[in-house]
Amino acid sequence: MENKPASLSKSRQRVIFNLVSRYWKRLAFAAACMIMVAGANGAMALLVKPVMDDIFIGKNREMLLLIPGLAVLVFLLKGLGSYGSEYFMNYIGEKIIRYFRDSLYEKITDLPIAFIHKEKTGALMSRITNDVNIVKGMVSTAVINVFRDFFSVIAFLGVIFYRDWQLACGAFLVLPLAFYPILVFGRRVRRFSTGSQETMADLNSFLHETFSGAKIIKIFSLESYEKKRFRLKTGELFRLEMKKVVAKALSSPVMEFLGGLGIAFIIWFGGMRVINGTSTPGIFFSFLTAVMMLYDPVKKLSGLNNTIQEGVAAASRIFDILEQEETIQEKINPEMLEGTVFDLEFDRVSFSYGADETPALKDINLRVAPGEVLALVGMSGGGKTSLVNLIPRLYDVSSGRILIGGKDIRDLSIKSLRDTISIVTQEPILFNESVKENIRYGRMDATEEQIVKAAKAAFAHEFILGFPKGYDTVIGELGSRLSGGEKQRICIARALIKDAPVLILDEATSALDSQAEQLVQRALENLMKGRTSFVIAHRLSTIDYASRVILLKNGSIAEQGTHRELMDLKGAYFSLQSMQAGKTAK
Ligand SMILES: Nc1ncnc2c1ncn2[C@@H]1O[C@H](COP(=O)(O)OP(=O)(O)O)[C@@H](O)[C@H]1O
Ligand SMILES: [Mg+2]
Repeated sequence: MENKPASLSKSRQRVIFNLVSRYWKRLAFAAACMIMVAGANGAMALLVKPVMDDIFIGKNREMLLLIPGLAVLVFLLKGLGSYGSEYFMNYIGEKIIRYFRDSLYEKITDLPIAFIHKEKTGALMSRITNDVNIVKGMVSTAVINVFRDFFSVIAFLGVIFYRDWQLACGAFLVLPLAFYPILVFGRRVRRFSTGSQETMADLNSFLHETFSGAKIIKIFSLESYEKKRFRLKTGELFRLEMKKVVAKALSSPVMEFLGGLGIAFIIWFGGMRVINGTSTPGIFFSFLTAVMMLYDPVKKLSGLNNTIQEGVAAASRIFDILEQEETIQEKINPEMLEGTVFDLEFDRVSFSYGADETPALKDINLRVAPGEVLALVGMSGGGKTSLVNLIPRLYDVSSGRILIGGKDIRDLSIKSLRDTISIVTQEPILFNESVKENIRYGRMDATEEQIVKAAKAAFAHEFILGFPKGYDTVIGELGSRLSGGEKQRICIARALIKDAPVLILDEATSALDSQAEQLVQRALENLMKGRTSFVIAHRLSTIDYASRVILLKNGSIAEQGTHRELMDLKGAYFSLQSMQAGKTAK
């Protein structure tokens, strides 16, 4: 599970570079602050010599006043530098988070529905919530480390060699021995933490799944099975956590012991030089201080690679989305669709969901007159939903064309096309806002009066008044109290209020019971008057009003005509009817 070295393409690097360079003034200021911190660090190590040699050994009273003053100044500068660099780097980091979040959300919202269906919703969400944070970590932490820690290392090395270059040469033969284990242990800890993060994510989705499926678990008596599955997962998590603990807990003692060997060498070699008179105690302690202070920035720099790797991997995932091609595009100078009634034509339309999938629609030729009500029937999987989804360009045809009012829909402004179409889908989709707002989604400028009128026409008004706060009740507050049929009627009200010339009802009444269905049916029939309508009906009894019935089978039009004509044909439609009649009779 070792991280593969990730990298970003030139163009992606450029995006990040451009983004960061927008803040170049803050960046420059932050860098200056970091250099100040590094300088202060070096100065602290330097100051040890005069403390030792001039104050303790030389008993110099002037220095006794000067050095503490200098120390205060050094710490003050370090504090200011550290605050300034943290503030400005995080400022830039947070700006970048926001930029990526906004662009991801905007991009995903604009991408065709096919993309959202293909990706897991959870994965898309984690792009926006987690991955952007990791990228921020890369940008701000990496930059902070590179500048502050790198310059600190330089400053300490400077002090070390300035104080005693011979001792320094000796020490540098020994010290890498101590720094090497940091790398090894760091890598182990990292590997186990990736493992435990994955197990943790797995645990989360397990919890989500089993809590939301609580009913099924109880009814099928799966409690002990699920408990066992959960215990297996926590067991795995325990194992990984303990490995991490061991790697972490061992790393400091081992490090310290090896570091101790290095220090022992310095004491022995440096002490010898002090005794010989080639060095002074001040030089020795100043040297030792710089060596000890070197430890921290080196450790941080060694973790830098990991932060960068993680950041690059997260950035790649983000860019993969941002660079998605928008397959459903508007023409450069699109035409506006104007008018109130339209005819529609499918001209040799074929469509498949992917290059290697069997076509969902094959060579569909269909003319729908303005104001005509067309019923689409057929076994499930026949292609009914696919056919109507092509009209508002939720998907684009693979070949052929669709004309509305004589114009190819791909030549039209997408907004003006979608403005002419109202749709009620099979699954009622409501947003977690008030009932009123949910209906208003159909038309943002609708008045309260219009909302109530639409609800009445959808036979939703009465049950809405029964809600705790009536039209102002928030959907989430109702929880599972809202039945499928009620949800569906709110969705119908939303479609009604849009008052669009083309209407698509995709099994819109399938969630309703027969009584409610009859009520809604009346509303829908009123709604369909004067509109070009596509009605996908699950129950064939509900399509009497259709002027023509189209039977889709395996993506092709198998039969078409009026209800009477198709019955007389005694073909697929006839058997579908008799099948349903048989079912209801039983
Ligand atoms: N999002 C999708 N991705 C891939 N295939 C799909 C998708 N939606 C539907 N299909 C396939 O297209 C065919 C037609 O489905 P659909 O139009 O939903 O039929 P119907 O609405 O008549 O039940 C089916 O074979 C179905 O499996
Ligand atoms: Mg369908």
